[in-house]
Amino acid sequence: MNDKIKILEQKKQEALLGGGQKRIDAQHKKGKLTARERIHFLMDEGTFEEIGMLVQHRSNDFGLEKEKYLGDGVVTGYGNINGRLTYVFSQDFTVFGGSLSETHAEKICKIMDLAMKNGAPVIGLNDSGGARIQEGVVSLGGYADIFYRNVRSSGVIPQLSAIMGPCAGGAVYSPAITDFILMVENTSYMFVTGPNVVKTVTHEEVTSEELGGAMTHATKSGVTHFACANELEAIQYLKTLLSYVPQNCEEDAPSLPYEMGDERRAELNNIIPDNANQPYDIREVIEKVIDNESFFEVHKNFAENIVVGFARLAGRSIGIVANQPAVLAGVLDIHSSTKAARFVRFCDSFNIPLLVFEDVPGFLPGTDQEWNAIITNGAKLLYAFSEATVPRITVITRKAYGGAYDVMNSKHIGADMNFAWPSAEIAVMGAKGAAEIIFKNEIALAKDKDAKWKEKETEYQTMFANPYRAAERGFIDEVIEPADTRIKLIKAFKMMENKVDKLPKKKHGNIPL
Ligand code: HXC
Repeated sequence: MNDKIKILEQKKQEALLGGGQKRIDAQHKKGKLTARERIHFLMDEGTFEEIGMLVQHRSNDFGLEKEKYLGDGVVTGYGNINGRLTYVFSQDFTVFGGSLSETHAEKICKIMDLAMKNGAPVIGLNDSGGARIQEGVVSLGGYADIFYRNVRSSGVIPQLSAIMGPCAGGAVYSPAITDFILMVENTSYMFVTGPNVVKTVTHEEVTSEELGGAMTHATKSGVTHFACANELEAIQYLKTLLSYVPQNCEEDAPSLPYEMGDERRAELNNIIPDNANQPYDIREVIEKVIDNESFFEVHKNFAENIVVGFARLAGRSIGIVANQPAVLAGVLDIHSSTKAARFVRFCDSFNIPLLVFEDVPGFLPGTDQEWNAIITNGAKLLYAFSEATVPRITVITRKAYGGAYDVMNSKHIGADMNFAWPSAEIAVMGAKGAAEIIFKNEIALAKDKDAKWKEKETEYQTMFANPYRAAERGFIDEVIEPADTRIKLIKAFKMMENKVDKLPKKKHGNIPL
Protein backbone atom coordinates (compact mmCIF):
# COMPACT_ATOMS: atom_id res chain seq x y z
CA MET A 1 0.00 0.00 0.00
CA ASN A 2 2.77 2.43 0.87
CA ASP A 3 4.12 2.20 -2.69
CA LYS A 4 0.69 2.96 -4.07
CA ILE A 5 0.31 5.95 -1.75
CA LYS A 6 3.72 7.12 -2.94
CA ILE A 7 2.55 7.05 -6.57
CA LEU A 8 -0.49 9.11 -5.58
CA GLU A 9 1.76 11.61 -3.81
CA GLN A 10 4.02 11.86 -6.86
CA LYS A 11 1.05 12.54 -9.11
CA LYS A 12 -0.20 15.24 -6.77
CA GLN A 13 3.21 16.88 -6.68
CA GLU A 14 3.33 16.81 -10.46
CA ALA A 15 -0.14 18.40 -10.69
CA LEU A 16 0.85 21.17 -8.28
CA LEU A 17 3.57 22.21 -10.72
CA GLY A 18 1.11 22.88 -13.58
CA GLY A 19 3.10 23.71 -16.70
CA GLY A 20 6.41 23.55 -14.80
CA GLN A 21 8.60 25.75 -12.64
CA LYS A 22 9.96 27.77 -15.58
CA ARG A 23 6.50 28.88 -16.59
CA ILE A 24 5.53 29.53 -12.95
CA ASP A 25 8.57 31.82 -12.68
CA ALA A 26 7.53 33.58 -15.87
CA GLN A 27 4.05 34.08 -14.42
CA HIS A 28 5.53 35.61 -11.25
CA LYS A 29 7.83 37.80 -13.31
CA LYS A 30 4.80 39.37 -14.97
CA GLY A 31 3.51 40.29 -11.50
CA LYS A 32 0.85 37.57 -11.61
CA LEU A 33 -0.01 34.87 -9.09
CA THR A 34 -0.47 31.27 -10.15
CA ALA A 35 -3.89 29.62 -10.30
CA ARG A 36 -3.32 27.85 -6.98
CA GLU A 37 -1.91 30.89 -5.21
CA ARG A 38 -5.06 32.80 -6.16
CA ILE A 39 -7.25 30.11 -4.64
CA HIS A 40 -5.07 30.07 -1.54
CA PHE A 41 -5.73 33.79 -0.96
CA LEU A 42 -9.40 33.55 -1.88
CA MET A 43 -10.65 30.64 0.24
CA ASP A 44 -10.70 30.28 4.02
CA GLU A 45 -7.53 28.49 5.06
CA GLY A 46 -7.67 24.72 4.76
CA THR A 47 -11.17 24.61 3.29
CA PHE A 48 -10.40 24.17 -0.41
CA GLU A 49 -11.10 20.70 -1.83
CA GLU A 50 -9.88 20.11 -5.35
CA ILE A 51 -11.87 18.15 -7.91
CA GLY A 52 -10.32 16.70 -11.06
CA MET A 53 -6.67 17.22 -10.20
CA LEU A 54 -5.58 14.31 -12.40
CA VAL A 55 -7.61 15.12 -15.50
CA GLN A 56 -5.68 15.18 -18.79
CA HIS A 57 -6.62 16.24 -22.30
CA ARG A 58 -7.51 13.63 -24.91
CA SER A 59 -6.12 15.31 -28.01
CA ASN A 60 -3.64 13.64 -30.33
CA ASP A 61 -3.37 16.36 -32.96
CA PHE A 62 -0.34 18.60 -33.55
CA GLY A 63 1.81 16.49 -31.22
CA LEU A 64 -0.40 17.18 -28.20
CA GLU A 65 -0.27 13.49 -27.22
CA LYS A 66 3.31 14.18 -26.10
CA GLU A 67 2.42 17.23 -24.04
CA LYS A 68 0.11 16.50 -21.17
CA TYR A 69 -0.24 18.17 -17.79
CA LEU A 70 -2.21 16.88 -14.81
CA GLY A 71 -5.23 19.10 -14.28
CA ASP A 72 -5.16 20.31 -17.90
CA GLY A 73 -4.83 24.01 -17.19
CA VAL A 74 -7.57 24.64 -14.66
CA VAL A 75 -7.85 24.07 -10.91
CA THR A 76 -11.46 23.41 -9.86
CA GLY A 77 -13.15 22.69 -6.55
CA TYR A 78 -15.04 24.08 -3.60
CA GLY A 79 -14.35 25.58 -0.20
CA ASN A 80 -15.47 28.39 2.07
CA ILE A 81 -15.21 32.15 1.80
CA ASN A 82 -15.93 33.77 5.16
CA GLY A 83 -17.48 30.48 6.21
CA ARG A 84 -19.82 30.20 3.21
CA LEU A 85 -19.66 27.43 0.59
CA THR A 86 -18.33 28.68 -2.75
CA TYR A 87 -17.29 26.86 -5.92
CA VAL A 88 -14.26 28.06 -7.81
CA PHE A 89 -12.34 27.47 -11.01
CA SER A 90 -8.95 29.01 -11.54
CA GLN A 91 -7.28 28.85 -14.95
CA ASP A 92 -3.61 27.98 -15.03
CA PHE A 93 -1.79 30.10 -17.59
CA THR A 94 1.31 27.90 -17.25
CA VAL A 95 -0.50 25.11 -19.12
CA PHE A 96 -1.08 26.03 -22.77
CA GLY A 97 -1.70 29.64 -21.69
CA GLY A 98 -4.78 28.57 -19.69
CA SER A 99 -6.48 27.78 -22.99
CA LEU A 100 -9.71 25.85 -22.92
CA SER A 101 -9.67 22.24 -24.07
CA GLU A 102 -12.52 19.74 -24.08
CA THR A 103 -11.50 18.34 -20.68
CA HIS A 104 -10.70 21.77 -19.22
CA ALA A 105 -14.29 22.77 -20.10
CA GLU A 106 -15.67 19.55 -18.60
CA LYS A 107 -13.98 20.33 -15.30
CA ILE A 108 -15.53 23.80 -15.19
CA CYS A 109 -18.96 22.43 -16.13
CA LYS A 110 -18.71 19.83 -13.37
CA ILE A 111 -18.34 22.42 -10.64
CA MET A 112 -20.97 24.69 -12.21
CA ASP A 113 -23.43 21.77 -12.09
CA LEU A 114 -22.54 21.07 -8.45
CA ALA A 115 -22.99 24.75 -7.59
CA MET A 116 -26.46 24.79 -9.15
CA LYS A 117 -27.55 21.59 -7.40
CA ASN A 118 -26.26 22.80 -4.06
CA GLY A 119 -27.23 26.46 -4.37
CA ALA A 120 -23.91 28.23 -3.91
CA PRO A 121 -21.99 30.94 -5.83
CA VAL A 122 -19.39 30.22 -8.51
CA ILE A 123 -16.24 32.29 -8.84
CA GLY A 124 -14.17 32.09 -12.01
CA LEU A 125 -10.54 33.23 -11.88
CA ASN A 126 -9.87 33.70 -15.57
CA ASP A 127 -6.43 33.67 -17.16
CA SER A 128 -6.80 32.16 -20.59
CA GLY A 129 -5.77 32.56 -24.20
CA GLY A 130 -9.22 31.32 -25.28
CA ALA A 131 -10.05 28.17 -27.20
CA ARG A 132 -7.18 25.64 -27.27
CA ILE A 133 -6.24 26.17 -30.85
CA GLN A 134 -4.95 22.62 -31.43
CA GLU A 135 -8.32 21.11 -30.44
CA GLY A 136 -10.47 23.06 -32.89
CA VAL A 137 -14.22 22.62 -32.69
CA VAL A 138 -14.05 20.40 -29.60
CA SER A 139 -12.83 23.42 -27.70
CA LEU A 140 -15.54 25.64 -29.16
CA GLY A 141 -18.09 23.08 -27.98
CA GLY A 142 -16.54 23.23 -24.53
CA TYR A 143 -17.04 27.00 -24.43
CA ALA A 144 -20.65 26.68 -25.49
CA ASP A 145 -21.23 24.11 -22.73
CA ILE A 146 -20.01 26.71 -20.23
CA PHE A 147 -22.01 29.60 -21.75
CA TYR A 148 -25.16 27.48 -21.59
CA ARG A 149 -24.60 26.77 -17.90
CA ASN A 150 -23.81 30.45 -17.22
CA VAL A 151 -27.18 31.37 -18.66
CA ARG A 152 -29.06 28.60 -16.84
CA SER A 153 -27.41 29.65 -13.57
CA SER A 154 -28.11 33.35 -14.11
CA GLY A 155 -30.47 34.59 -11.40
CA VAL A 156 -30.25 31.28 -9.54
CA ILE A 157 -26.76 31.47 -8.03
CA PRO A 158 -24.39 34.45 -8.00
CA GLN A 159 -21.60 34.14 -10.59
CA LEU A 160 -18.49 36.30 -10.27
CA SER A 161 -15.62 36.59 -12.75
CA ALA A 162 -12.17 37.92 -11.97
CA ILE A 163 -9.98 38.54 -15.01
CA MET A 164 -6.41 37.85 -13.96
CA GLY A 165 -4.58 37.75 -17.28
CA PRO A 166 -5.01 38.11 -21.02
CA CYS A 167 -8.48 36.78 -21.87
CA ALA A 168 -9.18 36.50 -25.55
CA GLY A 169 -11.88 35.00 -27.75
CA GLY A 170 -14.18 32.61 -25.93
CA ALA A 171 -12.54 33.50 -22.63
CA VAL A 172 -14.46 36.79 -22.51
CA TYR A 173 -17.98 35.64 -23.22
CA SER A 174 -18.48 33.47 -20.16
CA PRO A 175 -17.51 36.36 -17.84
CA ALA A 176 -19.81 38.66 -19.82
CA ILE A 177 -22.81 36.49 -18.90
CA THR A 178 -21.90 36.36 -15.20
CA ASP A 179 -23.12 38.92 -12.66
CA PHE A 180 -19.93 40.87 -11.98
CA ILE A 181 -16.54 41.22 -13.65
CA LEU A 182 -13.38 42.38 -11.89
CA MET A 183 -10.20 43.19 -13.80
CA VAL A 184 -6.63 43.81 -12.66
CA GLU A 185 -4.88 46.93 -13.94
CA ASN A 186 -1.88 46.36 -16.24
CA THR A 187 -1.95 42.54 -16.19
CA SER A 188 -5.41 41.65 -17.45
CA TYR A 189 -7.04 42.19 -20.81
CA MET A 190 -10.35 41.29 -22.39
CA PHE A 191 -10.98 41.36 -26.10
CA VAL A 192 -12.80 39.31 -28.68
CA THR A 193 -9.87 39.83 -31.07
CA GLY A 194 -6.43 41.10 -30.04
CA PRO A 195 -4.41 44.07 -31.38
CA ASN A 196 -2.86 42.04 -34.24
CA VAL A 197 -6.18 41.02 -35.70
CA VAL A 198 -7.49 44.55 -35.22
CA LYS A 199 -4.55 45.90 -37.20
CA THR A 200 -5.14 43.44 -40.05
CA VAL A 201 -8.88 44.04 -40.28
CA THR A 202 -9.34 47.73 -39.46
CA HIS A 203 -5.75 49.01 -39.80
CA GLU A 204 -6.01 50.52 -36.32
CA GLU A 205 -2.87 50.45 -34.22
CA VAL A 206 -3.77 49.90 -30.61
CA THR A 207 -2.06 48.39 -27.58
CA SER A 208 -3.59 45.57 -25.53
CA GLU A 209 -4.04 47.99 -22.66
CA GLU A 210 -5.87 50.54 -24.80
CA LEU A 211 -7.97 47.92 -26.54
CA GLY A 212 -9.05 45.86 -23.56
CA GLY A 213 -7.23 46.82 -20.35
CA ALA A 214 -8.93 47.24 -16.98
CA MET A 215 -9.33 51.03 -17.22
CA THR A 216 -10.62 50.82 -20.78
CA HIS A 217 -13.37 48.44 -19.73
CA ALA A 218 -14.02 50.27 -16.46
CA THR A 219 -14.48 53.69 -18.11
CA LYS A 220 -15.28 53.28 -21.81
CA SER A 221 -17.17 50.05 -22.39
CA GLY A 222 -18.46 49.32 -18.88
CA VAL A 223 -17.64 45.63 -19.46
CA THR A 224 -15.90 45.41 -16.09
CA HIS A 225 -17.54 46.51 -12.86
CA PHE A 226 -14.26 46.90 -10.98
CA ALA A 227 -10.70 47.85 -11.96
CA CYS A 228 -8.39 46.61 -9.20
CA ALA A 229 -4.86 47.82 -8.54
CA ASN A 230 -3.51 44.27 -8.19
CA GLU A 231 -4.60 40.64 -7.85
CA LEU A 232 -4.82 40.70 -4.06
CA GLU A 233 -7.14 43.69 -4.22
CA ALA A 234 -9.29 41.85 -6.77
CA ILE A 235 -9.48 38.85 -4.44
CA GLN A 236 -10.46 41.12 -1.53
CA TYR A 237 -13.17 42.71 -3.70
CA LEU A 238 -14.54 39.24 -4.51
CA LYS A 239 -14.87 38.48 -0.80
CA THR A 240 -16.49 41.85 -0.06
CA LEU A 241 -18.91 41.45 -2.95
CA LEU A 242 -19.96 38.01 -1.72
CA SER A 243 -20.63 39.39 1.77
CA TYR A 244 -23.57 41.44 0.38
CA VAL A 245 -25.24 38.66 -1.59
CA PRO A 246 -27.10 35.49 -0.67
CA GLN A 247 -26.02 31.97 -1.60
CA ASN A 248 -28.83 31.64 -4.12
CA CYS A 249 -32.15 33.16 -5.21
CA GLU A 250 -34.11 31.32 -2.50
CA GLU A 251 -32.13 32.86 0.34
CA ASP A 252 -31.54 36.29 1.85
CA ALA A 253 -28.15 37.99 2.04
CA PRO A 254 -26.38 37.65 5.39
CA SER A 255 -27.30 40.32 7.96
CA LEU A 256 -24.99 41.80 10.55
CA PRO A 257 -26.32 42.22 14.11
CA TYR A 258 -27.54 45.77 14.71
CA GLU A 259 -28.85 47.60 17.78
CA MET A 260 -30.89 50.75 17.22
CA GLY A 261 -29.43 53.91 18.70
CA ASP A 262 -29.65 57.56 17.75
CA GLU A 263 -30.36 57.32 14.03
CA ARG A 264 -30.85 61.06 13.38
CA ARG A 265 -28.18 62.48 11.07
CA ALA A 266 -28.31 66.28 11.38
CA GLU A 267 -25.57 66.78 8.74
CA LEU A 268 -28.03 65.68 6.05
CA ASN A 269 -29.89 68.97 6.47
CA ASN A 270 -26.90 70.88 5.08
CA ILE A 271 -26.01 68.99 1.89
CA ILE A 272 -28.43 70.42 -0.69
CA PRO A 273 -27.16 73.82 -1.93
CA ASP A 274 -29.56 76.80 -1.80
CA ASN A 275 -29.20 77.25 -5.54
CA ALA A 276 -31.01 74.36 -7.24
CA ASN A 277 -28.55 74.41 -10.13
CA GLN A 278 -25.50 73.87 -7.95
CA PRO A 279 -24.06 70.36 -7.83
CA TYR A 280 -23.37 68.26 -4.74
CA ASP A 281 -21.97 64.76 -4.35
CA ILE A 282 -24.75 62.20 -3.84
CA ARG A 283 -22.18 59.91 -2.18
CA GLU A 284 -22.24 62.32 0.77
CA VAL A 285 -25.95 61.62 1.18
CA ILE A 286 -25.44 57.87 0.78
CA GLU A 287 -22.59 57.74 3.31
CA LYS A 288 -24.60 59.62 5.93
CA VAL A 289 -27.71 57.47 5.55
CA ILE A 290 -26.21 53.96 5.56
CA ASP A 291 -24.30 52.03 8.22
CA ASN A 292 -20.79 53.36 8.75
CA GLU A 293 -18.42 52.69 5.83
CA SER A 294 -20.66 50.00 4.38
CA PHE A 295 -20.92 51.43 0.84
CA PHE A 296 -19.39 49.16 -1.78
CA GLU A 297 -19.63 50.99 -5.07
CA VAL A 298 -20.09 49.03 -8.30
CA HIS A 299 -19.14 50.39 -11.75
CA LYS A 300 -17.52 53.39 -10.06
CA ASN A 301 -15.73 54.72 -13.15
CA PHE A 302 -18.46 54.12 -15.72
CA ALA A 303 -21.43 56.43 -16.40
CA GLU A 304 -20.61 58.44 -13.32
CA ASN A 305 -23.83 60.42 -13.60
CA ILE A 306 -25.46 57.53 -11.76
CA VAL A 307 -24.05 55.82 -8.67
CA VAL A 308 -24.87 52.19 -7.86
CA GLY A 309 -23.60 49.86 -5.17
CA PHE A 310 -24.28 47.74 -2.13
CA ALA A 311 -24.57 48.98 1.42
CA ARG A 312 -25.98 47.94 4.78
CA LEU A 313 -28.81 49.60 6.60
CA ALA A 314 -29.22 48.50 10.21
CA GLY A 315 -27.10 45.48 9.29
CA ARG A 316 -29.17 44.44 6.26
CA SER A 317 -27.81 44.32 2.74
CA ILE A 318 -29.42 46.79 0.29
CA GLY A 319 -28.74 47.90 -3.27
CA ILE A 320 -28.51 51.64 -3.91
CA VAL A 321 -29.21 53.47 -7.18
CA ALA A 322 -28.62 57.23 -7.04
CA ASN A 323 -28.52 60.04 -9.59
CA GLN A 324 -25.27 61.94 -9.25
CA PRO A 325 -25.84 65.72 -9.53
CA ALA A 326 -22.07 66.26 -9.47
CA VAL A 327 -21.69 64.69 -12.95
CA LEU A 328 -23.72 66.01 -15.91
CA ALA A 329 -26.24 67.28 -13.34
CA GLY A 330 -27.29 63.65 -12.77
CA VAL A 331 -28.99 63.39 -16.16
CA LEU A 332 -30.11 59.97 -17.39
CA ASP A 333 -28.42 58.86 -20.60
CA ILE A 334 -27.80 55.57 -22.38
CA HIS A 335 -24.92 54.36 -20.24
CA SER A 336 -26.35 55.42 -16.89
CA SER A 337 -29.68 53.77 -17.75
CA THR A 338 -28.13 50.42 -18.69
CA LYS A 339 -25.71 50.52 -15.76
CA ALA A 340 -28.54 51.06 -13.30
CA ALA A 341 -30.89 48.61 -15.02
CA ARG A 342 -28.41 45.77 -14.77
CA PHE A 343 -27.77 46.50 -11.11
CA VAL A 344 -31.49 46.63 -10.33
CA ARG A 345 -31.98 43.25 -12.00
CA PHE A 346 -29.14 41.71 -10.04
CA CYS A 347 -30.56 42.95 -6.73
CA ASP A 348 -34.05 41.79 -7.62
CA SER A 349 -32.81 38.35 -8.68
CA PHE A 350 -31.18 37.86 -5.30
CA ASN A 351 -33.71 39.39 -2.90
CA ILE A 352 -31.69 42.50 -2.13
CA PRO A 353 -34.01 45.45 -1.32
CA LEU A 354 -33.56 48.59 -3.42
CA LEU A 355 -33.04 52.15 -2.24
CA VAL A 356 -33.12 55.00 -4.78
CA PHE A 357 -31.90 58.56 -4.26
CA GLU A 358 -33.37 60.79 -6.92
CA ASP A 359 -32.09 64.10 -8.22
CA VAL A 360 -32.54 64.03 -11.97
CA PRO A 361 -33.21 66.85 -14.43
CA GLY A 362 -34.48 64.40 -17.07
CA PHE A 363 -33.10 62.40 -20.00
CA LEU A 364 -30.14 63.80 -21.97
CA PRO A 365 -31.28 65.39 -25.26
CA GLY A 366 -29.36 65.29 -28.55
CA THR A 367 -28.69 63.36 -31.73
CA ASP A 368 -25.96 61.23 -30.17
CA GLN A 369 -28.38 59.90 -27.58
CA GLU A 370 -31.36 59.56 -29.92
CA TRP A 371 -29.42 57.82 -32.72
CA ASN A 372 -27.85 55.42 -30.27
CA ALA A 373 -31.26 54.50 -28.88
CA ILE A 374 -31.78 56.33 -25.62
CA ILE A 375 -35.42 55.31 -26.08
CA THR A 376 -34.63 51.59 -25.95
CA ASN A 377 -31.91 51.97 -23.34
CA GLY A 378 -33.86 54.29 -21.06
CA ALA A 379 -36.70 51.80 -21.27
CA LYS A 380 -34.40 49.14 -19.82
CA LEU A 381 -34.29 50.99 -16.52
CA LEU A 382 -38.03 51.55 -16.57
CA TYR A 383 -38.52 47.86 -17.24
CA ALA A 384 -36.05 46.72 -14.58
CA PHE A 385 -37.66 48.79 -11.83
CA SER A 386 -41.19 47.89 -12.91
CA GLU A 387 -40.38 44.20 -12.79
CA ALA A 388 -38.57 44.26 -9.44
CA THR A 389 -40.52 42.65 -6.61
CA VAL A 390 -38.07 43.27 -3.75
CA PRO A 391 -38.90 46.03 -1.22
CA ARG A 392 -38.30 49.34 -3.03
CA ILE A 393 -37.97 52.81 -1.58
CA THR A 394 -37.23 56.17 -3.24
CA VAL A 395 -36.00 59.35 -1.60
CA ILE A 396 -36.33 62.45 -3.81
CA THR A 397 -33.64 64.82 -2.61
CA ARG A 398 -34.12 67.54 -5.23
CA LYS A 399 -35.13 67.31 -8.89
CA ALA A 400 -37.56 64.74 -10.22
CA TYR A 401 -38.38 66.01 -13.67
CA GLY A 402 -40.14 64.58 -16.67
CA GLY A 403 -40.00 60.95 -17.72
CA ALA A 404 -37.08 60.49 -15.38
CA TYR A 405 -39.49 61.04 -12.44
CA ASP A 406 -41.50 58.04 -13.61
CA VAL A 407 -38.46 55.90 -14.36
CA MET A 408 -36.55 56.44 -11.13
CA ASN A 409 -38.58 54.00 -9.03
CA SER A 410 -41.75 56.09 -8.79
CA LYS A 411 -44.77 54.71 -6.93
CA HIS A 412 -46.54 54.40 -10.28
CA ILE A 413 -44.12 51.65 -11.35
CA GLY A 414 -44.35 49.74 -8.12
CA ALA A 415 -42.10 51.41 -5.54
CA ASP A 416 -43.41 50.64 -2.07
CA MET A 417 -42.53 53.87 -0.27
CA ASN A 418 -41.55 57.26 -1.66
CA PHE A 419 -40.13 59.97 0.55
CA ALA A 420 -39.23 63.51 -0.49
CA TRP A 421 -37.08 66.13 1.14
CA PRO A 422 -38.51 69.66 1.39
CA SER A 423 -36.03 70.63 -1.35
CA ALA A 424 -37.74 68.29 -3.86
CA GLU A 425 -38.98 69.67 -7.17
CA ILE A 426 -41.39 67.34 -8.92
CA ALA A 427 -42.67 68.55 -12.28
CA VAL A 428 -42.85 67.82 -15.99
CA MET A 429 -39.90 70.10 -16.68
CA GLY A 430 -37.81 72.96 -15.25
CA ALA A 431 -39.66 76.25 -14.67
CA LYS A 432 -37.77 78.24 -17.31
CA GLY A 433 -38.56 75.83 -20.16
CA ALA A 434 -42.11 75.31 -18.95
CA ALA A 435 -42.81 79.07 -18.86
CA GLU A 436 -41.45 79.47 -22.39
CA ILE A 437 -43.84 76.84 -23.73
CA ILE A 438 -47.08 77.37 -21.88
CA PHE A 439 -46.91 81.17 -21.69
CA LYS A 440 -45.45 81.65 -25.17
CA ASN A 441 -48.20 83.98 -26.39
CA GLU A 442 -48.38 86.00 -23.19
CA ILE A 443 -44.60 86.53 -23.26
CA ALA A 444 -44.65 87.48 -26.95
CA LEU A 445 -47.31 90.14 -26.35
CA ALA A 446 -45.60 91.63 -23.30
CA LYS A 447 -43.74 94.93 -23.55
CA ASP A 448 -40.87 93.69 -21.41
CA LYS A 449 -40.55 90.09 -22.59
CA ASP A 450 -37.77 89.13 -20.22
CA ALA A 451 -39.63 90.45 -17.19
CA LYS A 452 -42.77 88.55 -18.24
CA TRP A 453 -40.80 85.38 -18.76
CA LYS A 454 -39.23 85.73 -15.33
CA GLU A 455 -42.65 86.36 -13.78
CA LYS A 456 -44.11 83.25 -15.41
CA GLU A 457 -41.06 81.19 -14.51
CA THR A 458 -41.51 82.17 -10.86
CA GLU A 459 -45.21 81.36 -11.06
CA TYR A 460 -44.51 77.87 -12.38
CA GLN A 461 -41.68 77.37 -9.90
CA THR A 462 -43.85 78.34 -6.94
CA MET A 463 -46.53 75.94 -8.07
CA PHE A 464 -44.42 72.90 -8.94
CA ALA A 465 -40.85 73.22 -7.67
CA ASN A 466 -41.77 71.59 -4.38
CA PRO A 467 -42.85 68.17 -3.15
CA TYR A 468 -46.32 69.18 -2.00
CA ARG A 469 -48.32 68.78 -5.22
CA ALA A 470 -47.07 65.20 -5.45
CA ALA A 471 -47.69 64.63 -1.74
CA GLU A 472 -51.29 65.88 -2.14
CA ARG A 473 -51.83 63.13 -4.66
CA GLY A 474 -50.18 60.47 -2.53
CA PHE A 475 -47.38 60.02 -5.08
CA ILE A 476 -45.10 60.88 -2.16
CA ASP A 477 -45.87 59.06 1.08
CA GLU A 478 -44.15 61.54 3.33
CA VAL A 479 -42.13 64.72 3.08
CA ILE A 480 -39.34 64.28 5.61
CA GLU A 481 -36.60 66.33 7.18
CA PRO A 482 -33.33 65.06 5.65
CA ALA A 483 -31.92 64.38 9.12
CA ASP A 484 -34.63 61.77 9.68
CA THR A 485 -33.97 59.88 6.45
CA ARG A 486 -31.98 57.08 8.04
CA ILE A 487 -34.54 56.24 10.70
CA LYS A 488 -37.43 56.48 8.22
CA LEU A 489 -35.65 54.06 5.88
CA ILE A 490 -34.75 51.61 8.62
CA LYS A 491 -38.37 51.50 9.77
CA ALA A 492 -39.81 51.26 6.26
CA PHE A 493 -37.49 48.42 5.18
CA LYS A 494 -38.23 46.61 8.46
CA MET A 495 -41.96 47.06 7.81
CA MET A 496 -41.45 45.35 4.42
CA GLU A 497 -39.27 42.53 5.67
CA ASN A 498 -41.86 39.94 4.69
CA LYS A 499 -43.02 41.54 1.47
CA VAL A 500 -44.56 39.12 -1.01
CA ASP A 501 -45.08 40.27 -4.58
CA LYS A 502 -45.22 38.06 -7.61
CA LEU A 503 -45.12 38.79 -11.33
CA PRO A 504 -47.99 37.48 -13.48
CA LYS A 505 -47.43 33.92 -14.73
CA LYS A 506 -45.33 34.05 -17.89
CA LYS A 507 -42.43 32.29 -19.55
CA HIS A 508 -40.32 35.42 -19.32
CA GLY A 509 -40.76 39.07 -20.10
CA ASN A 510 -39.31 40.76 -23.15
CA ILE A 511 -36.97 43.44 -21.81
CA PRO A 512 -36.06 45.98 -24.53
CA LEU A 513 -32.53 44.73 -25.29
C1 HXC B 1 -3.18 26.86 -27.23
C2 HXC B 1 -2.06 28.67 -26.37
C3 HXC B 1 -3.17 29.51 -26.65
C4 HXC B 1 -4.32 28.92 -27.25
C5 HXC B 1 -1.63 30.71 -25.75
N1 HXC B 1 -1.14 29.44 -25.83
N2 HXC B 1 -2.86 30.76 -26.26
N3 HXC B 1 -2.09 27.35 -26.66
N4 HXC B 1 -4.28 27.59 -27.52
N5 HXC B 1 -5.41 29.64 -27.50
C6 HXC B 1 0.17 28.98 -25.33
C7 HXC B 1 1.34 29.51 -26.14
O1 HXC B 1 1.57 28.66 -27.23
C8 HXC B 1 2.45 29.46 -25.10
O2 HXC B 1 2.89 28.12 -24.99
C9 HXC B 1 1.74 29.78 -23.82
O3 HXC B 1 0.35 29.51 -24.04
C10 HXC B 1 1.87 31.23 -23.43
O4 HXC B 1 1.53 32.03 -24.53
P1 HXC B 1 2.40 33.29 -24.98
O5 HXC B 1 1.90 33.73 -26.29
O6 HXC B 1 3.84 32.95 -24.85
O7 HXC B 1 2.02 34.34 -23.84
P2 HXC B 1 1.79 35.88 -23.95
O8 HXC B 1 2.88 36.53 -24.75
O9 HXC B 1 1.58 36.36 -22.54
O10 HXC B 1 0.43 36.07 -24.77
C11 HXC B 1 -0.75 35.57 -24.27
C12 HXC B 1 -1.87 35.66 -25.35
C13 HXC B 1 -1.39 35.02 -26.65
C14 HXC B 1 -2.21 37.15 -25.57
C15 HXC B 1 -3.11 34.98 -24.76
O11 HXC B 1 -0.83 33.74 -26.35
C16 HXC B 1 -2.46 34.85 -27.65
O12 HXC B 1 -2.82 35.80 -28.37
N6 HXC B 1 -3.05 33.63 -27.75
C17 HXC B 1 -4.02 33.32 -28.74
C18 HXC B 1 -5.31 33.97 -28.46
C19 HXC B 1 -6.40 33.49 -29.37
O13 HXC B 1 -6.45 33.95 -30.52
N7 HXC B 1 -7.19 32.51 -28.90
C20 HXC B 1 -8.18 31.85 -29.68
C21 HXC B 1 -9.40 32.70 -29.67
S1 HXC B 1 -10.70 31.98 -30.59
P3 HXC B 1 4.33 27.73 -24.42
O14 HXC B 1 4.48 26.27 -24.72
O15 HXC B 1 5.30 28.59 -25.14
O16 HXC B 1 4.33 28.01 -22.97
C22 HXC B 1 -11.76 31.50 -29.43
C23 HXC B 1 -13.03 31.03 -30.00
C24 HXC B 1 -14.08 30.83 -29.00
O17 HXC B 1 -11.51 31.53 -28.27
C25 HXC B 1 -15.29 31.59 -29.40
C26 HXC B 1 -16.44 31.29 -28.52
C27 HXC B 1 -17.51 32.35 -28.64
